[in-house]
Parts: sequence; C-alpha cells; structure tokens
Amino acid sequence: MLKSLAGEVPSRPPFWLMRQAGRYLPEYRATRAKAGNFLDLCYNPELAEEVTLQPLRRYGMDAAILFADILLIPHALGQPLAYREGEGPVLDPVRSATDLGKLDVSAIQKTLDPVYETVARLSQSIPKDCTLIGFAGAPWTVATYMVEGRGSKDYLHSKHWIYSDPAGFSTLIDLLVEATTDYLLHQVAAGAEVIQIFDTWAGVLPDDEFRKWVIEPTRRIIEGLRRQHPELPVIGFPKGVGGNIIDFVRETGVSAVSLDTGTPVGWAAKEVQSLVPVQGNLDPLLLVEGGKAMEARARDIIETLGRKPFIFNLGHGIVPQTPPENVARLAEIIRGA
Ligand code: CP3
Repeated sequence: MLKSLAGEVPSRPPFWLMRQAGRYLPEYRATRAKAGNFLDLCYNPELAEEVTLQPLRRYGMDAAILFADILLIPHALGQPLAYREGEGPVLDPVRSATDLGKLDVSAIQKTLDPVYETVARLSQSIPKDCTLIGFAGAPWTVATYMVEGRGSKDYLHSKHWIYSDPAGFSTLIDLLVEATTDYLLHQVAAGAEVIQIFDTWAGVLPDDEFRKWVIEPTRRIIEGLRRQHPELPVIGFPKGVGGNIIDFVRETGVSAVSLDTGTPVGWAAKEVQSLVPVQGNLDPLLLVEGGKAMEARARDIIETLGRKPFIFNLGHGIVPQTPPENVARLAEIIRGA
C-alpha cells in the first residue's frame, strides 16, 4: 500500500475495503453487542481494536482502517448524538451562530483520547506488512450531519445556511478544520501511517460552493498535517463530484484519490491516474451479488487501473447484506491478479 502511494506498481495491487469492519461479519455483531451501543464501541480501545482486526484475520487486507466514525468530532464538540437502529445517526441540529455558541472545543481532545489509544494498540497488533490508516470526515460532510441533524437527501438547511449567511457557515467550517487537523495529527502521533479524508456529500454542491466548502477546507487540513509531517500520504474521497475531481486533486494537495462507483475507470486511468495514484471503485452491490458479475467487473478494474499506481477498493462502503464468502472470493481474485 505504501509503495503504491509512493508511485510504484507492485506485482499485484494492494487492497482494503471501505467499511471492512461492520455488520456483515457475525463476529462484529457479537463484539458490538458486548460493547453496548455504537459510540461505546468507538470509545472502547480494546473492542475497537478487536473489530478493526476481524476482517484482517479473515481476508488479510493490506491495510487496516481505525474503527471509529466521522461523527465523533461533533460528538466531542458537545453535540448530542445517537445512532438509531435502521435510522442512522441523529444529532441535535446546529443551524445558527447561537447554536454554534453551544459547542465546546475545550474538551475535545480528552473525549477523543480513547481513539488515539486504539490507534496506538493497532500499530502494535496489525501484521508487519499491513498499513494502518487513520481517518476523519471532511468539514463539509461532517457539517451536513451537524446542520441537518441526520442523513439528508436535499441538504435543505445546510444549503440555506451557505447561501444566506456564508460568513456564519464559515465559522462552523473553520472550527471543523481546526478540530479535524488536530484530531488527525494525534492519530499520526499514535501510529497512523496514512490518512483518508471522507467527503461523502462533496458531490451535491455547484462549482463555486464546491471550491469554498470542499476544496479549500481540505487543502487547509492537508497543509496543517504536512507542516508537521511533510511526507504523510493523504487519500481524498470526494464522492460524486464527477469531473471536479481534477481540480480537487490539483488544488488540495492529496497524495491519492478514492474513486466512487460512478467514475468511469477508462477516463480515470487517463485523466486522474496521470496526476496521482487512485483507489477504487467496485460497486459495493456487486460484492452483495458475487459470482461472475462481481468477478468480471473486479478483473476489468484491475486491468484498466492496475498498470499505474492503484489500490483496489470499493466505490463506497460495504453494506450489511454482503455475504462474507463473496469478500473471500474477491480477495482471491485480487491476489491472483
Ligand atoms: O471499517 C471501516 O471502514 C472503519 C470505520 C468507519 C465507520 N464509519 C464505522 C461505522 C468509517 C471509516 C466510517 C465513515 C463514515 N461514517 C462515513 C463516511 C464514509 C461513508 O460511508 O460514506 C459517514 C458518512 C459516516 C456516518 C455514519 N456512521 C452513518 C451515516 C452511519 C449509519 C449508516 C450505517 O451504516 O449504519 C454510521 C454508523 C456506522 N459507522 C457503522 C459502522 C460500522 C454501523 C453502526 C452499527 O454497528 O450499527
């Protein structure tokens, strides 16, 4: 994985899968039940370490990703958060300067301390040739959850805020840039070797707003990380942005980008992979399907992207309906490539 990120093409592509720890694995469901709720699991270093290691034991991925969630930052800022079965995350929405006043930056690193302990444990316990990935959500995506109070389809409140009061919304983004940079620096200090920044909802903004709320905050975070760690590999995942991914790569300073499922791989091989190594982009639903359809598509992706620096992954996270044996079959195909 580190070789590919440094621009080399190893004998077969390295691989890991977004959401490789999760509900599709019976051992994850067992550990989660032991922890209590999802947040308890995220803040329990011993159990968070255990669920990070579970997919590695089965499939021997080339990278481990810290088990945590992008919404730990708002939680650590004091925003009430719960994960409800079948509903996803629910937060008390923050929609004005007055609401922002309720957030408290002073306790954040203390709340997040258990996450750093999980990273430190993993840096000791993962296999020697396995790369440890730390992560955070990008400010825009985290802000949409903070403002909407839940997952959203239209981003009504977030967009109202950026269009009616950009200066107020900037205050929230600035707070997130600062907290996220600090959070990631702590993860690196604890042993994370690569950072991935998840911007799941980057694709819902028009050009100008995309530059302001996606490119610019990401660029500032990376600048802050590189000030202390000039060589740190950072993977961006601006999901759903189409051709805007080119400006994203050129202007943020990412070392590599993760491609979503909708990105044409032939186009990406020419236009994106000529700039940076790429990661991606098998449809997670093909991993549910398995069989010939999955195998053919996985081989196509490797054929098209595997000639230049490339990390095999999905175009978005594994879904809970995924049969574990399909992941085993996918790992075999990649190892045979
Ligand atoms: O294995 C890994 O990839 C590492 C852990 C990880 C989780 N979430 C664990 C998790 C990572 C990297 C994330 C990122 C994340 N979290 C994103 C960005 C990537 C993406 O998928 O778009 C987002 C948007 C979130 C916010 C979030 N967390 C949502 C919307 C949900 C509910 C949806 C769902 O799948 O239940 C979560 C919960 C969550 N995060 C689970 C896991 C394993 C499921 C919780 C459970 O056990 O019930």
